[in-house]
Amino acid sequence: SGPDVAAGVSEHVLDVPDFPQSGVMFKDLTPLFADPTGFRRAIDAIIAYHGVESFDVVAGVEARGFVIAAAVAYATGTGVVPVRKAGKLPRNTVAASYALEYGEATLEVHADAFHAGERVLVVDDVLATGGTAEASLDLVERAGGRVAGFSVLLELGFLGGRQRLAPRPVHALLTV
Ligand code: PRP
Repeated sequence: SGPDVAAGVSEHVLDVPDFPQSGVMFKDLTPLFADPTGFRRAIDAIIAYHGVESFDVVAGVEARGFVIAAAVAYATGTGVVPVRKAGKLPRNTVAASYALEYGEATLEVHADAFHAGERVLVVDDVLATGGTAEASLDLVERAGGRVAGFSVLLELGFLGGRQRLAPRPVHALLTV
């Protein structure tokens, strides 16, 4: 259930002060990825929330979103499309620039990554300011996909990402 899943995520998140720069409290989810039960429950909760019939493919946002996307896709018999940092994809891409909680970056997806109207579940580890998610969801649609849902393991509610993405729905296993 929701509270159980949130507690399961919470127990495997480490707060790291002043990373990657002074004043930022970094949420380290590597312990969750490394924990067999915690990881499985998190992946299963994402799939259960959306339903296996609701999406055709899973888009993962570099880099930690790849881990989640691969697990969701394997468990549901779907595939993975990578949303990557600029300059990594070898063929024709669509690109979107965005502001991070710290710094700025550009994301890309292959222009032919999706069949027209293909239903895409987008996943990442953390929703902070929402810039990454906004760019990713935008790219999926510009590449011909249809966003079927968006899930993160952890939402930093005080940064307003959910409001920024409205009216698009955001699913978070844990919100702090
Ligand atoms: C982190 C995180 C999200 C994004 C959230 O990725 O994994 O993708 O920031 O921030 P936002 O909501 O403020 O945009 P990061 O850019 O550190 O990339 P990485 O996973 O490749 O290290």
